[in-house]
Amino acid sequence: MSIQQSKSICAADALLKSFEVPINAVVVGATGGIGSAVLELLDHCPNVQNILALSRRPIPDGLKTKSMAMDIQDEATIAKAAEVAKAEFGDIHLVFVATGILHDDENQPEKTFRGLSPEWASRVFAINATGPMIIAKHFVPLFPRDGKSVFTAISAKVGSISDNGLGGWYGYRASKAALNQFIKTLSIEVARKYSDAVCLALHPGTVDTELSTPFQSGVPEGRLFTPEYSANRLLQVVDQADPSDSGQLVAWDGERLPY
Ligand SMILES: NC(=O)c1ccc[n+]([C@@H]2O[C@H](COP(=O)([O-])OP(=O)(O)OC[C@H]3O[C@@H](n4cnc5c(N)ncnc54)[C@H](OP(=O)(O)O)[C@@H]3O)[C@@H](O)[C@H]2O)c1
Repeated sequence: MSIQQSKSICAADALLKSFEVPINAVVVGATGGIGSAVLELLDHCPNVQNILALSRRPIPDGLKTKSMAMDIQDEATIAKAAEVAKAEFGDIHLVFVATGILHDDENQPEKTFRGLSPEWASRVFAINATGPMIIAKHFVPLFPRDGKSVFTAISAKVGSISDNGLGGWYGYRASKAALNQFIKTLSIEVARKYSDAVCLALHPGTVDTELSTPFQSGVPEGRLFTPEYSANRLLQVVDQADPSDSGQLVAWDGERLPY
């Protein structure tokens, strides 16, 4: 394993040096708490030359950022984004999927199996598990045959089956477990064609975003991260990762978590 556990944040100009070439990156879910912080860091990173930022809500283009509308439940919008990425940037070296759902105005994570609803569970799976798979379907073919490339999606420690001591949150947990299995399976196939590629599921810690807002009361002192802190640590993990890490679930501090 090449990922080292570290304790500090890194300046943007020190990030992502392991890629060796100027990076073309795609950020999926660029309007989210963590996604927008990742986008901001990539935008300030001299090792990144182009960024395609994908989101449902529009965001302005930047100096090296082109933005496009995409709904992760709508494959046509994903396919269109991949076409544009290929035409405008050529090779893609980093795909960072930061979309996800835990609750909405009408639905909260299920405390008991009695609260399960097929409609809500399907939506959670579509966004948290199927969506990143369809992103991979359209963007992994844009990886260079040689040289480092990374496909990563934010998962969650609560998706770990062996670490589940608390129960609850049925749909979210199961969708993240499915995402982890997908990343593992993808890593096996990707390694056959792209020998330097890495596929990672990431755990960002507990981060102060819209997604976690209703559930922050029990978070221990000092363990609620800002999106900027988490994004910085996650990009350090991406930077340190090599093919021996591919298929793993890795936390913000570099710890490899059990599936
Ligand atoms: N925050 C935490 O403590 C924490 C902990 C563990 C794991 N995570 C994971 O980290 C990831 C990012 O979460 P966050 O905390 O940054 O949450 P967030 O601020 O709520 O961001 C979620 C993002 O997902 C996007 N999204 C949702 N449904 C979508 C769809 N159908 N199509 C396209 N985009 C869609 C949202 O886009 P819109 O702006 O269009 O709604 C938003 O950009 C998620 O996978 C989450 O499960 C977070």
